[in-house]
Amino acid sequence: MHGHPAHHPGHPTDLVAQLRAAGCVFAENEARLLYETARGPAELRRMTDRRIAGHPLEHVLGWAEFAGLRIAVEPGVFVPRRRTEFLVRQAAACASSAELPVLVDLCCGTGAIGAALLTALGGRGELHAADLDPAAVRCARRNLAGPRVHVHEGDLFAALPGRLRGRVDVLTANVPYVPTADIPLLPPEARDHEPRPALDGGPDGLSLLRRVAADAASWLAPGGALLTETSSRQAEAAAGLLSAAGLTVTVTTDPDLHATTLTARRL
Ligand SMILES: C[S@@+](CC[C@H](N)C(=O)[O-])C[C@H]1O[C@@H](n2cnc3c(N)ncnc32)[C@H](O)[C@@H]1O
Repeated sequence: MHGHPAHHPGHPTDLVAQLRAAGCVFAENEARLLYETARGPAELRRMTDRRIAGHPLEHVLGWAEFAGLRIAVEPGVFVPRRRTEFLVRQAAACASSAELPVLVDLCCGTGAIGAALLTALGGRGELHAADLDPAAVRCARRNLAGPRVHVHEGDLFAALPGRLRGRVDVLTANVPYVPTADIPLLPPEARDHEPRPALDGGPDGLSLLRRVAADAASWLAPGGALLTETSSRQAEAAAGLLSAAGLTVTVTTDPDLHATTLTARRL
């Protein structure tokens, strides 16, 4: 801890009590992060007030930890979830044999998946990240930089340059997959502070995946793979629609992260 006098009113012990009273389960951890991130007592007060009002911690801090990276997250942009680190690990394994793999991250949000994947590959790869939402694209541009990195705005594959067709080695797409009827059941941080199009997967939660599956084979290189996250409940139906699109599907799970990933290969 540094940067503040030891006993000003926003001292961590007071903060912990305030956060706990507001229902924050990890109050001690959150207090430490707020204290370390704020650049003075006034900012600490503003940040704490926003957190107590229910804003996601990552929106208040302005960043989220993901795969050991600090990812910038602006208000109104989907907060990358730790469970998605599992998808990144699977994607890195798929990319490891190619010399300079072509990587595409559709529905990129903050760009967390692409940033972590490129890091896992030691910077080896040409990365194209894309999202429909201008706020997400702005945020991804902050998180993704490099000579072979491109961030595009647009609807799924329509955002990509045509020259990538048939050349994509690894296609990650953490599409929205919450069934519309389940949105009210989400924690308020997601329900009230993340944009609806980032969460809503349509009536059965698979609307976006269905659209990705329809075009994936024509964008993947031979031997290339599409990786997507889903819920354990939807895994079978999601695998079925990827198989029906002509891809060879493997389902993997990580019980610690509560993560289910589908890897769908074009043979
Ligand atoms: C579940 S979030 C995932 C964000 C990021 N990949 C991650 O894992 O943190 C889904 C993202 O899909 C984007 N999205 C929704 N519909 C889209 C579409 N038709 N085309 C492109 N992006 C879309 C949303 O804006 C949102 O950023």
